[in-house]
Amino acid sequence: MKNKISVAILGLGRMGGAHVFAAKASPYIDDIIGYEPDKERAELRGRELEIKATHNLDDILSNPDIKLIYIAAINEVHCELTVKSLEAGKAVLCEKPMGETLAEAREMMDAQKATGGFLQIGFELRYSKMYQTVKDWIDQGLIGTPVNCQCRYYCSEFHLKNSWRSNSSGTLIGEKLSHYLDLPRWWFGSPVKNVYSLSAPNFVPYFNHSDNHQINYKFENGAISVLNFIMGIAETDYDDPLLEILEKQADDGHYLQYHIVGTGGAIETDVFRRRMRRWKFTEDEKQLRSEIVETITYTKEDDTEWMHNTVGQNIAIAELVAKGLPPGSSAHDAYETMKLCYATEISEKESRIVPLSEIK
Ligand SMILES: NC(=O)c1ccc[n+]([C@@H]2O[C@H](COP(=O)([O-])OP(=O)(O)OC[C@H]3O[C@@H](n4cnc5c(N)ncnc54)[C@H](O)[C@@H]3O)[C@@H](O)[C@H]2O)c1
Repeated sequence: MKNKISVAILGLGRMGGAHVFAAKASPYIDDIIGYEPDKERAELRGRELEIKATHNLDDILSNPDIKLIYIAAINEVHCELTVKSLEAGKAVLCEKPMGETLAEAREMMDAQKATGGFLQIGFELRYSKMYQTVKDWIDQGLIGTPVNCQCRYYCSEFHLKNSWRSNSSGTLIGEKLSHYLDLPRWWFGSPVKNVYSLSAPNFVPYFNHSDNHQINYKFENGAISVLNFIMGIAETDYDDPLLEILEKQADDGHYLQYHIVGTGGAIETDVFRRRMRRWKFTEDEKQLRSEIVETITYTKEDDTEWMHNTVGQNIAIAELVAKGLPPGSSAHDAYETMKLCYATEISEKESRIVPLSEIK
């Protein structure tokens, strides 16, 4: 095929491995090189992932054949690596969060503006069929005007003691919940007006950041949304290969659901039940009535594509870059989601409603 490109993956941990898998599956990529700052780790991960790997970033930045850089390194270097890559003329897909602070997010956006380069942030849920179906149903007017969105997210990723995640001073709002604040922004298509968030004392004793958040936010068009997150109570997954894990998790305290209610119907997404449903509201002379009119289920084999489509996202981005097209969603749009994340942190710190207009 014409227009094949070489790519680099910075950070070869768990997510870096997923990026390598996606790059190998892309018909638009003909060469992959990985990067880890430590020489031995670069060699080890290169061998394990069966790719070339270097510990010298300049090997990558100065190589004119490399057109696209996927950044899957720890959060504290997202900004630095993005700015360097853009300045070297590379297209960039950087994992969320967009920087560890709002200032870093702005620096990343400014670097994109200054270079005119390609920068997309890895909000891969926008590439996942379940959430794309929500967008389609809303855009088709199947639930009327969306007015209220509720997200309940309970999981038990009790990250290991003394890992970068547990020790991070960055909150889980940017690191984890940015995905789940980004989706309603995308679905509702209205700017966020303000946010009020609460957080109780931790129950995970060794986290350096909060393990629970109740984030309420209001859109300019009057719609409201809440994200209710706790790092628990779900049973711990011990990675038993014999266990059909989602089947168990569907009723052991795991929840990842959205309920989006509109003037003409409602939508439910339910990751742990591999199901989405749509209600239709009709009004007769006596009352308003609600009926489930559509149910979609999918199988274990379709999990990635339906609920966490990093592979699809990365392949789509390689195609855009190979064809010289702009990002699927702009750096500015990602910055708006990060603004909501940082306004949420301010709200929790200062116990007040924070208007997004306050944040530049
Ligand atoms: N989109 C998603 O759903 C999703 C899921 C998981 C992780 N992530 C993101 O991916 C990133 C990596 O997460 P992970 O789970 O793979 O963590 P990980 O700890 O498994 O891997 C991080 C890697 O970064 C490397 N690293 C450290 N300093 C570096 C530097 N200066 N330059 C390059 N690499 C460096 C580490 O050696 C390690 O291999 C994080 O930003 C995380 O938020 C996104």
